[in-house]
Amino acid sequence: MPVDVRATIRVATAEDAERLSELAARTFRETFAADNTADDLAAYLAATFTPERQRSELEDSRQRVFLLETDGVAAGYAHLTRSTPDAAVTGEAPVELARFYVDGAWHGRGLAQQLMRAVVDEAVRIGARTLWLGVWERNARAIAFYRKHGFVDVGSHPFVLGRDVQTDRIMQRPVGPPSDD
Ligand SMILES: CC(C)(COP(=O)(O)OP(=O)(O)OC[C@H]1O[C@@H](n2cnc3c(N)ncnc32)[C@H](O)[C@@H]1OP(=O)(O)O)[C@@H](O)C(=O)NCCC(=O)NCCS
Repeated sequence: MPVDVRATIRVATAEDAERLSELAARTFRETFAADNTADDLAAYLAATFTPERQRSELEDSRQRVFLLETDGVAAGYAHLTRSTPDAAVTGEAPVELARFYVDGAWHGRGLAQQLMRAVVDEAVRIGARTLWLGVWERNARAIAFYRKHGFVDVGSHPFVLGRDVQTDRIMQRPVGPPSDD
């Protein structure tokens, strides 16, 4: 149930690299540890969520990360990137929602909704007309959340976690255009 919580959402900067690295690794582990081997998970985390890699992503003008904080504590993040869209994406002017994670303590409490609103606003602001993403086919909660927010399934692609080849569903939704008011 949504709660009245002092949540803020801001654009992350290179100075957030360490905190984002910690948050990203923690929430990824929390989400996927139960359904994957420790080795596959460790390999993926070590390659993906180092502070150095986070810093270079944060310094890349094609990428934007929103940090959700509750009372100053990092509780979620969303990562938008102007990547080459997956072949299944059919919408015009697409931008990718590459990562979208909220700390487990805050699930079901409306914060993910606020974060999605920030993502959609930013997508519109940068001129995108489509938001697309890949989500593990076994991540039923995230798929339900994305459906609730207007995403539809348009295809699939392989996703490699360590040595495990998995299937991500590709989803997209229209965004914008900005209104005049
Ligand atoms: C995905 C995520 C951001 C959604 O935020 P949330 O606060 O949990 O979302 P909500 O509770 O509003 O919505 C989730 C929906 O899934 C439903 N749901 C809950 N558990 C579920 C389950 N095990 N299977 C299927 N649906 C489920 C909820 O009932 C809700 O639908 P409803 O509002 O119609 O009842 C959040 O769960 C999260 O951060 N998960 C871990 C990270 C993750 O998986 N990110 C996506 C990577 S692509």
